[in-house]
Amino acid sequence: MDLGQKRYSSIAVALHWAIAILILAQIAGGLYMHNLPNSAASKFDLYQLHKSFGLSILGLTIIRLGWRLAHKPPALPGAMPGWQKLIARLIHWAFYALMFLTPLAGLAMVSASPLNVPTLWFGLVEIPHLPFFNGVADRGAVEDLFQEVHEYLAFSILFLLVLHVGAALKHGFINRDGVLSSMAPRMRAWVGMLAIAVVLGLAALFYIQSDPLQGEISHSDGHSHDHNEDAAPAIAPAKVEPGATETAAPVGEPQATLEPDASSAEAIPAVALSSAWTVDYAASTLRFLGEEGGASFEGQFSNFTAEIIFDPDNLGAASISVEVRTTSAGSGSDFRDGTMKDGEWFDVKAHESAHFTSSTIRKTGANAYAADGTLTIKDFTHDVTLAFTLDIDGDQASAAGGADLIRTDYGLGMSASWLESEKVALAVRVEFEIKAARAN
Ligand code: HEM
Repeated sequence: MDLGQKRYSSIAVALHWAIAILILAQIAGGLYMHNLPNSAASKFDLYQLHKSFGLSILGLTIIRLGWRLAHKPPALPGAMPGWQKLIARLIHWAFYALMFLTPLAGLAMVSASPLNVPTLWFGLVEIPHLPFFNGVADRGAVEDLFQEVHEYLAFSILFLLVLHVGAALKHGFINRDGVLSSMAPRMRAWVGMLAIAVVLGLAALFYIQSDPLQGEISHSDGHSHDHNEDAAPAIAPAKVEPGATETAAPVGEPQATLEPDASSAEAIPAVALSSAWTVDYAASTLRFLGEEGGASFEGQFSNFTAEIIFDPDNLGAASISVEVRTTSAGSGSDFRDGTMKDGEWFDVKAHESAHFTSSTIRKTGANAYAADGTLTIKDFTHDVTLAFTLDIDGDQASAAGGADLIRTDYGLGMSASWLESEKVALAVRVEFEIKAARAN
């Protein structure tokens, strides 16, 4: 029964239902992704999609409010008691407020985050972060605060929804006063909703298809030779930084060999053994082991180069120089690998490589050695001793060893939120297994 109740315009109806569906999906998706372990491969992408859909809701809400202010909605039925009309209006305006504040709190959260992960609408358009947090000392704490606010606001939408749906059903099935059907979609509203669904669906599809993280995933397996991650960092999906190209030799490809130093070659005239070694990168690994949220994880740098001069009989002339491409760090988790490249961690844009050099190599056991050297990550340099075992069989050598580091010595993950004990442990172990052949 309609009782002559006027209808909302098709545009108002289309926006109402499109936003309602999007908000419900957004809340379910937000809770789902928040509870995923960081190791989940999809987590990073889900966050990007959540931000994109959330900003779309904000955009649609702005259009909806503009439309609402320009077009008077149908009056509530005259028979409705005044207090019910007042509550209905309060709930409607509270909805508008929450539809603005919830996405804005989300945007404030990512703007305050010390990780500075850019916000790109479906990888297409960069949405500027709110500028208020630049000078804030403890951005991690502000981020945590907005995360709570964001969550409470989203749950407040759910609470209002229960009241709103209850009242709508009462109008439709008990009062039968036409209020419910005044918002029911008809043909033109369905077309409007379909148009919104097509635009957002295509944008999401574009993001999923063009996601540069795909390269990163195979890269972290150590199988990919695609070195484009510098050009499109994982933290900035689909945003290509012009001019940034990677030229380091891929793993497994032959590296420049070192010419043996003339004096040491002279020192062993009998067999004229070279003391320079060429690393077989395909058969070598450089791993890092850490702990996050109480669970251990392991990753590897798939791109590093090592220049090794080593002769057990002439340790005084031995030297090791390793360059590790920080962009090549992969641990099988898109989320962790994306954040690892960020300014707070390896800051790969400013510091493409970490370096270890040593020219003091000591024998510590039958096949055991220690290389005292320095490790430089970003602008931090510290003494590090690399302990390793070495087996030389003719012209082939295999070495295995490692060192224990404290990540904060190198300015890795310094904000309060990363330093909380349950996040990433400070102790990190670096281990390597190297196969090398004597250079000719
Ligand atoms: C109407 C729009 C939105 C709704 C209803 C919504 C809802 C939610 C919900 C229910 C959660 C899970 C809360 C938790 O358990 O912490 C969440 C998490 C999150 N939201 Fe939104 N959201 C919206 C828009 C946005 C926007 C626009 C952004 C950023 C641009 C954003 C960024 C985030 C982030 C980063 C998280 C994860 C927090 C964490 O895991 O620590 N959201 N959202």
